[in-house]
This record gives sequence, C-alpha cells and structure tokens, in this order.
Amino acid sequence: MIENKMKKQIISEFRKNPDVLIEDLSSQMLLRGNVLKIIQDYIKEHPNRPWSQKYEGLLYLPKRISLYSVADFCNLSCRMCGGSKGKLKYIKAEQLETIINHIPSVELLTFVSGNSEPLLNPDFVDILDIVNKRKINVQIVSNTHFLTEKVVNKLVLLDSCVDYNVSLDAVSEEMYKEVRGASIEPVIKNLEYLKEQRDKYKNNNIDLSLLMVGMSDNIEELPKMVKLAKSLNAYRIKVDHMTGVAEPGDFEKNPNWQSILINAFTIANELEIVLNVPNDTWRKIVEYLGTEKTETNNDDKKVEKTDNIVEGVCPWLETINIYTDGKIVPCCHIANDLGNIFNEDLFFNDKYINAKINLSKGKVFKACIPQNRSNCNYAVQLKGLENTEDYFIEEN
Ligand SMILES: C[S@@+](CC[C@H](N)C(=O)[O-])C[C@H]1O[C@@H](n2cnc3c(N)ncnc32)[C@H](O)[C@@H]1O
Ligand code: SF4
Ligand code: SF4
Repeated sequence: MIENKMKKQIISEFRKNPDVLIEDLSSQMLLRGNVLKIIQDYIKEHPNRPWSQKYEGLLYLPKRISLYSVADFCNLSCRMCGGSKGKLKYIKAEQLETIINHIPSVELLTFVSGNSEPLLNPDFVDILDIVNKRKINVQIVSNTHFLTEKVVNKLVLLDSCVDYNVSLDAVSEEMYKEVRGASIEPVIKNLEYLKEQRDKYKNNNIDLSLLMVGMSDNIEELPKMVKLAKSLNAYRIKVDHMTGVAEPGDFEKNPNWQSILINAFTIANELEIVLNVPNDTWRKIVEYLGTEKTETNNDDKKVEKTDNIVEGVCPWLETINIYTDGKIVPCCHIANDLGNIFNEDLFFNDKYINAKINLSKGKVFKACIPQNRSNCNYAVQLKGLENTEDYFIEEN
C-alpha cells in the first residue's frame, strides 16, 4: 500500500518535473535501490516520452564503483608483483564526494590499487567518513602495514559493511620476508589491534579475510594460516593462482600440493573457517580424492566454450571502473576511454551509456578479446569470432 503510494508519487513527480526530482533524489542519495528501480521501470515502459529519453542513462547506472584510489607507488616490493616505485597518486576526499555525486546509485565502493596500496592514501580516514555518511559499503584489499590505530578506530565504528582482505601469503617471518620482502610483525600487530577493537565494540560490520597468492613454497604454510585466521577472527582464507612467471612458480608445482590442501581443508572444517581455492584446483582435488564433485565453495561459474554458442553478457554491467585521474574504463581488463567522471553526471555521459547499451546486448570491444592475458569468461568465448561483426562495438 505504502509502496504503491510512493511509486505513484515518484512517477507523477518524474512526469511533472523530472529535472527537479532527479536533482533532489540525487542530492539526498536516494537515486538508488527501489526508488531508482521505479524510475527505471517507468522509462523502460515509456521509452518515447521526452523525459524518458533525456534520462535514459539512469537505466545504466552501476551499483558498484571499482576505484583506483591510489596509484604509482607501493611500500612493498613483493616478488610476484614488484610494486610501483613512482610518485604516489591518490583520490582526495573531496574528489570522492564529486564521484559519488555523479554516480548517486552506488552501493559498494571497491578500493583497487593496481601495484599500489590503498591504505597509503593520506585521505583514507576522511574517505571512510564520506562512504559512511553516504551509506555505501566498502571492499578493501590491503597489505595492512598501514592499518593504523586511527584507521581501525574508524573502521569499527562505521555503519557501512566492510569486506577487508589482508594479502598475507605467509605466516612465518621467514616465508613472509621471502614473498613480501618485509617483516610480518607489524601486520600481525595491526590485526591483533583490529580484533581487540572488534571484540570491544562487538563489531559485526567487518568481514575479515586472509589472502594467499599460492606459490610452490608458501603453500606449505596454508594449514598454519587457517589456524591464524581463527585466532584473528577472520571468517575466510582465499587462495589464488599466481599470474605471471615469478619464481618459484604456482603452488601446483609443489609435489605435495594436493595433500597440503586436503590437510588445510580438514583444519578449516574443524575450525569453521571458509577456505576458497580456484575452481580448477577444486576440481583437481576432487579427482585426486577419487570422489564425485557434489558442491563447490567457489562462486565463479565455469563457462564451457562451445563452437557456435555464446552465453551471457559482459559481467561488469553493474560496475564502473575509475582511475585516479577520473578516467572511466569498462572494466579491470581493458582501458577503452569512456570519459571522465569529474566532468558530468554519469547518466548524461553518452560514451559510457553507449558502451553499456552495447555491452548489455552481448557486444564487446575488440580489446575485450584476450591475447596472452587473463580476461573475463564472457570475452574468452568470443575468441575466434573476431570477424563476426554482430559481437563487436563500433569504435571511432
Ligand atoms: C596488487 S595487490 C594491491 C593491493 C595491496 N597492495 C595488497 O598487496 O593487497 C592486489 C592483490 O594482488 C595479489 N597479487 C600480486 N601479484 C600477484 C600475482 N602475480 N598473481 C596473483 N595475484 C597477485 C596481491 O597479493 C594482492 O592480494
Ligand atoms: S602485492 Fe601489493 S603490497 Fe605487494 S608489491 Fe604488489 S601492490 Fe605492493
Ligand atoms: S573484457 Fe569486455 S566483456 Fe569482459 S568485462 Fe571487460 S568490458 Fe566486459
């Protein structure tokens, strides 16, 4: 009843004075969720009305911003990454305000950092204040050397949900130094303080995860890492393959990798820690045990490549990727220029809207087709179909 009344009121205001309504909703961070959906449904049902045409871009507003909040400098030089060693670039707090003003639909902010470190951003605490005020959840991947008391004290009092991922890779001082070229001690100290404060405030907004880039030596420490996760109140460990050719190679080069993983799964099960491994690894473990695969703890869906059947659409439709200078690109795999977020509201950005219209129809940019690098499962299916124009977005 109340919902119906609200719907009628929104549509009536949208028809009478769309500019005022959109401006008002946007400034109050209400142009998202159910309210945005009501307007989107109306636009879809009445595409030829002038106000629907003017605000067609609302149909393509993303829920998630994947933001390069820092770039070009890292405090570490991990052996599988190297880390950037230029001059640190970063998004300032007031720039983030502008970005959110221009993308009022955002519900989740993911801090990505290339070969840099998000907590090096000098405005990080102010940025957390902004996302909290705007009711936006956050996702962080960090080496955690700069998880200072000031940052922890802010994190534990946020209303926003925080998905906090620590790139740890090892448990012992020796192995951590081998992989990350630094001492693990400050990281553990910071995580112990985080646990203490989470306990003190009975905080349940933070989901803590430990990450491991699995290589042939550090994989030996996975069972110990599960125990560490328990003691730090982390809910999960996520193991990834190493990309690239850094020594000593991916964890599957360790002759005992299957038994190490099985041991880690057994401990994780006992301690009720979620242990995520790559899908292909999971399948190999199941094969190794000689049992049928009944379930997987991974979310990714395997895409079978069939000669003529292409399934799905671009998996980044609900996300926007933004660099520190405000440049918008379609996703984390390609860098086609879709304009600059500092210049205008995203729903008036024609380059962005045209790209999303085409991507939502299953088309892709030529650059989406993977050469010798990892890419999204959708574009992988199109390899070999480069000459089939139906699948490609025209670029000028
Ligand atoms: C590049 S870092 C940037 C964020 C931050 N500096 C950190 O280490 O968490 C993001 C993630 O990529 C992982 N990573 C680095 N090099 C990698 C590689 N060659 N293969 C797979 N993952 C890698 C890191 O361990 C980290 O979890
Ligand atoms: S993995 Fe992260 S911490 Fe390590 S060098 Fe790369 S960016 Fe820096
Ligand atoms: S590579 Fe292309 S299809 Fe894949 S996520 Fe990026 S933009 Fe979308």
